[in-house]
Amino acid sequence: AHGVVVTGSGSSSMLVVQMSERKLLILFGSQTGTAQDAAERISREAKRRHFCCRVEALDNYSVANLITETLVVFVCATTGQGDPPDNMMNFWRFIFRKNLPPSSLCQMDYAVLGLGDSSYPKFNFVAKKLHKRLLQLGGSPLLPVALGDDQHDLGPDAVIDPWLLDLWEKVLALYPLPPGLGVLSPDVLLPPRYALHFLDENADDGDQPQQEAARDTPSELRPFAALMVCNQRVTAESHFQDVRLIEFDITGSGMEYSAGDVVMIQPRNSPEDVQQFCQLLRLDPDRRFVLKPSEPDMALPAHLPQPCTIRHLVTHYLDISCVPRRSFFELLSYLSPDELEQEKLQEFSSAQGQEELYSYCNRPRRTTLEALWDFPHTTCVIPPAYLLDLIPRIRPRAFSIASSLLAHPNRIQILMAVVQYKTRLSKPRRGLCSTWLASLRPQHGDVWVPLWVKKGGMKFPAKPDTPMIMIGPGTGVAPFRAAVQERVAQGRKGNCLFFGCRQKSKDFYCQAEWEELVKKGFLTLFTAFSRDQEDKVYVQHRIRENKGLLWDLLSRDNAHIYVAGNAKEMPAGVAEALKTVFHLEGGLSTSEAEEYLAALERSHRFQSETWS
Ligand code: 2AM
Repeated sequence: AHGVVVTGSGSSSMLVVQMSERKLLILFGSQTGTAQDAAERISREAKRRHFCCRVEALDNYSVANLITETLVVFVCATTGQGDPPDNMMNFWRFIFRKNLPPSSLCQMDYAVLGLGDSSYPKFNFVAKKLHKRLLQLGGSPLLPVALGDDQHDLGPDAVIDPWLLDLWEKVLALYPLPPGLGVLSPDVLLPPRYALHFLDENADDGDQPQQEAARDTPSELRPFAALMVCNQRVTAESHFQDVRLIEFDITGSGMEYSAGDVVMIQPRNSPEDVQQFCQLLRLDPDRRFVLKPSEPDMALPAHLPQPCTIRHLVTHYLDISCVPRRSFFELLSYLSPDELEQEKLQEFSSAQGQEELYSYCNRPRRTTLEALWDFPHTTCVIPPAYLLDLIPRIRPRAFSIASSLLAHPNRIQILMAVVQYKTRLSKPRRGLCSTWLASLRPQHGDVWVPLWVKKGGMKFPAKPDTPMIMIGPGTGVAPFRAAVQERVAQGRKGNCLFFGCRQKSKDFYCQAEWEELVKKGFLTLFTAFSRDQEDKVYVQHRIRENKGLLWDLLSRDNAHIYVAGNAKEMPAGVAEALKTVFHLEGGLSTSEAEEYLAALERSHRFQSETWS
């Protein structure tokens, strides 16, 4: 029942000309993949309306060409702190340049779709700001900016669905459908984004790390294969959580970093998962292939070698352990030859089926691989070319660097909690990257990990005599270990650390190091062991207990305060404790204390980095 329609290759030359004028550019800035997923959905819907579409991450697009574009949809996420995602940083700097002429974009019709979370103060800040800026540069908005919201019961689709209906109405008014053509119904299967051609010969070697002699600084497009030199558990075996101190050798990489920076690590799927996946899909892992884009000016995935083996594609590229999205089930439903499976897949991809999909996928954190198991008749007929449409790319993970180059030349260390938790599914859920890293055994032979460094959000004081107050329970202490190492190497004192963990004997990692620094007079340390006594003691308690010292450091010595960590309520709790200090020691009223903290934040004397 499914016909394959190749957009833009109609039989009459008249039609081809018209198609080439129906060009839609979709640019996205995406941190977790939601904005990219939405961008790809818009592209599919546009193809059903006979548009020639190009979808690109904003930073992959040559931004100078924007002055020639006539129809553009921007899909932009806003991250927790109100910042744009990493893959639109360069674009962001460019578009706000002061010297851009005010009518640069007067040829452009545009629309901005924002994705954000209304529980954060700067809700959809990036999309709103971009919308205004494009208007200022002479662009014509087709409709108001859409404010997708993660907090909505049905997720961002609750906003995206009606907005898209409106968008297509506006777009088709400007670019009516070519004569004789209607909007393709959703069950017409579109061609895959990349054509996949198998080569005759199989690969005879496995995956080798590719470390060419190139001189550029390692980046996402060219990570450095770093040797893992140490992978040591730093919590007691009997402790509930496995936390690792991991060290990499970066000799020869040309990479440099400062305290506060992060290391990006590109994880991979386990050989067992890769094998299972290949079996399910009846793919020969050794088979080699090349990709060709289905649209003329579309780039190939930059992260894949050409030619490539199926094993490499599945191991390094396809995120088979992520929770599948609605679009995954939608595409599977078109591919399914099995009536029962197709019915279920259609339900999961319909607007009415979203609650059902949520309890099937998101609540138990079901992986893509597990979902494929549940649709065996569909899975075994998936054409390999559709894999890149079906399954997103494995994203790199960010870790705060826990070491300083001054103390550990040519090394990067991280403190990593191994992510593992239970849901109603029988197999425990495991984080892809932390599980992989924890499994590596550098003592049993060389292990290489692809990584690169990135500037972090936290900036430590430039002046040597500025005291630092650092509040970092759990692995939140990582960037402070880097900062303290850096400052100690420079002979700087005035380091005050609040560390919290459950039990002194179980998860007080780096204890010996801290105690040594205390002894030498480099560090003032306050510890809060939450479960070593009947009542919980947190870093906030220690902050209140030491109010005199803290107020002196802040009001007299211009100290900077830093908070990092992943306890959900911790950052707010710490802010409250600090305000109490300002009130009790500084004599500030509640509103003055509030304003004092806000002023510290504005002048970057109070910075925080938190994650969940
Ligand atoms: P708990 O698990 O005993 O509640 C590192 O995770 C430390 O942070 C643990 O001791 C943990 O205590 C503590 N923690 C949990 N919630 C917190 C909060 N809201 N504020 C400060 N510390 C917290």
